[in-house]
Amino acid sequence: SDNNHATAIDPNSAISHIAIYGAGIMGSGIAQVAAQSGYKVTLWDLTQTDIDRGLHAIRRSLSKPAQKTEKSADQTADAILARISTTTDQLQACASADLVIEAIVESLSVKQDLFVRLAAVAKPSCIFATNTSSLLITDIAANLCAARKKRMVALHFFNPVVRMKLVEVAYMDGVTDPQLLPLLKAWVCDIGKVPVLCRDTPGFIVNRLLVPYNIEARQLVERGDATIEDVDTAMKLGAGYPMGPFELMDMTGLDTGYRIMKAWYENAPGLAGDPRFKPSPAMEAMIANGHLGRKSGQGYYKYT
Ligand code: CAA
Ligand code: NAD
Repeated sequence: SDNNHATAIDPNSAISHIAIYGAGIMGSGIAQVAAQSGYKVTLWDLTQTDIDRGLHAIRRSLSKPAQKTEKSADQTADAILARISTTTDQLQACASADLVIEAIVESLSVKQDLFVRLAAVAKPSCIFATNTSSLLITDIAANLCAARKKRMVALHFFNPVVRMKLVEVAYMDGVTDPQLLPLLKAWVCDIGKVPVLCRDTPGFIVNRLLVPYNIEARQLVERGDATIEDVDTAMKLGAGYPMGPFELMDMTGLDTGYRIMKAWYENAPGLAGDPRFKPSPAMEAMIANGHLGRKSGQGYYKYT
């Protein structure tokens, strides 16, 4: 529907209520950092089981020391959790939201459908943000009206959300309202993170560099040039990375890594058809066997 929201929207209208879609690895972490900074959060997922898993991750993280922010908001775990409400009602979750952050499965059609549904009910002033790793905002927003596209960006967080300081703020050049960018940069700072700006391009900054690196690591092992353990040790001790590429791929989730490669191989401007991104049979076999990384208890390594 191309309903025109002609009403003037104050670009500086405050963000206070945030709806987060997806209570997985990323959505639960984003909900936690927003609530820690005093924001009211509504966390949505498909089923209560998905929500409970997300809440469990948040409670576990809050039980660890040194998660404090400088904000004056009440920092006890109970107070933080009290700012997070949960629901499986997709439309109700965003009814009063000032900002939607979408962190559901890395699938273009699923993300497109979600935003079309939300566009019918969200406030005209609501900012739509995707946490996509690899897809274009332009493609995710393809079925939205111009007024919604104007208020759409990516807010790309990093895993583990509570620990990683960066948020990429990505925008559609000539489409996203430029006045949103200082507002969102200020919000990112307010939740204790550091923003960087990027145009709408596959992988933005970090994944554009990190995904090919991960792929090279996997190909090195698939060729038999070195072992998984030795590649990880090499990059930690020889390049100073905090984790090796296989530890990192296990933390990201092999299913998500696979979806990123496949989408780039099939569609991404400037990358489509590049044989580097062709999903390998070895990776497909791991996913078919349920070896998705940390979240499933086994990936390149085993987790107890
Ligand atoms: N919630 C849950 N778990 C947390 C956590 C939190 N808030 N903070 C830390 N952890 C976990 C760690 O993962 C680790 O797990 P276990 O307890 O299960 O062993 C443990 O807590 C130890 O944490 P420490 O802070 O003591 O560990 P550390 O100092 O070694 O740092 C790290 C851990 C911050 C993850 C560090 O290893 C690191 O920076 N790794 C690289 C991470 C990275 O590159 N992330 C980006 C991935 S790409 C991406 O996210 C984009 C995308 O679109 C795919
Ligand atoms: P996850 O697998 O932990 O969680 C995904 C969530 O999406 C699940 O809770 C699931 O219930 C929900 N979901 C699945 N199918 C759905 C559907 N058809 N409709 C609605 N919801 C559905 O994934 P994640 O790692 O949290 O990734 C979420 C998003 O964040 C993806 O776009 C991913 O690319 C991106 N991202 C991931 C990382 C990472 O390191 N894992 C980092 C940055 C960005």
